[in-house]
Amino acid sequence: MPDWRRDFVAAHDTGCAAENIALAAIALGLGSCFVKAFSEVALKQILKIPDHMRIQIMIAIGYPEPTNAKSVKREPEPIFLNQFGHELNREG
Ligand SMILES: Cc1cc2nc3c(=O)[nH]c(=O)nc-3n(C[C@H](O)[C@H](O)[C@H](O)COP(=O)(O)O)c2cc1C
Repeated sequence: MPDWRRDFVAAHDTGCAAENIALAAIALGLGSCFVKAFSEVALKQILKIPDHMRIQIMIAIGYPEPTNAKSVKREPEPIFLNQFGHELNREG
């Protein structure tokens, strides 16, 4: 597999894993925040991560501040079935 393709797949894999971690955090009463803006060189040095490994993302996990904010109800994005424009009927 060419390098660019491996990087692309790794980014997708990371996204899947990160989302699972974020959901698991919520289930445990925790909060999480994805962070991509970091110096990979500096972070590898601090965490003693070997040269041949890459850091895809950091996930900060902690106890969220209690909030009174109301969740915003948004219109669901359309989901197309089999063909672009053929909207999935969510009513069943
Ligand atoms: C893959 C990914 C990487 C992110 N990296 C950063 C980052 O480096 N710095 C930052 O301030 N926010 C970053 N964000 C955004 C925050 O994680 C968070 O989603 C944003 O602050 C909105 O939070 P809120 O929904 O609680 O308001 C990133 C989000 C994603 C999905």
